[in-house]
Amino acid sequence: MTAEKGPLDGRVAMVTGAAQGIGLEIARLLAGSGAVVALTDLSADPPAAVDGIAGAAYFQCDVSDAKSIDSAVSAVVERFGALHILVNNAGIAIDGLLMRMKPSDWEKTLAVNLSGAYHCCKAAVRHLLKARESGRIVNISSVVGEQGNVGQVAYSASKAGLLGVTRTLARELASRGVTVNAVAPGFIATAMTDEHVQGENREKLLASIPLGRIGTTSDVAEAVRFLCLPAAAYITGQVLRVNGGLYM
Ligand code: NAI
Repeated sequence: MTAEKGPLDGRVAMVTGAAQGIGLEIARLLAGSGAVVALTDLSADPPAAVDGIAGAAYFQCDVSDAKSIDSAVSAVVERFGALHILVNNAGIAIDGLLMRMKPSDWEKTLAVNLSGAYHCCKAAVRHLLKARESGRIVNISSVVGEQGNVGQVAYSASKAGLLGVTRTLARELASRGVTVNAVAPGFIATAMTDEHVQGENREKLLASIPLGRIGTTSDVAEAVRFLCLPAAAYITGQVLRVNGGLYM
């Protein structure tokens, strides 16, 4: 009996910040569609979940360090022979009102969320160009990048910056068939949002979301998966909002 074919069979995907949360779910869904997935994250040790993802492997990669990114991309290509899909998912949120935010918190947030994606794109681009029409970049932005949010000046700037990266690279890589899109989640239940979605804020938050619930990691991962499919080849430079209607 031959294995069932998936729409991403033969594709190699690299997902940053994939040890948990949204990144891990993206890795699971891409693998479920047939891709070979390189999960990457800060820790030297692979998360236990990697064992449950068919054909996947783990690589250490700190996206705030260009050398670490170069090594990880080289290791992925050496192991799997190609790189078709890059998902820039790694991110941090250091919250605080402008007056109290330390310059070092601003710099760290930009280094991970925005410069990290830039360095990953730069390290991956020649492999993605070889992938031609199978080449995909998906940047994980945020509703906060479009709307702003009190106490999140650095996070908001980094996520808005990713939209500029997305649109510019979409134009730069289009002639080779490589697409570049952003997914902008609203509030998704993960470690990052625990304190926002619990306690007294919860009811207020739910009341502001037309669909009346917090999103799940698979809500976001399904959108990413779609953008990676051959069926999405004519979509580039777009922002796919996965936010329950919070921002339209
Ligand atoms: P999370 O905190 O559960 O996962 C983030 C992952 O990024 C962790 O595994 C962490 O180790 C990794 N990471 C942090 N710094 C890193 C670095 N320097 N190098 C490599 N990996 C690093 O958060 P979550 O919610 O899964 O977030 C994933 C992405 O989705 C982030 O970019 C976040 O900004 C974005 N997002 C999340 C939303 C939410 O409501 N949870 C809403 C909108 C966007």
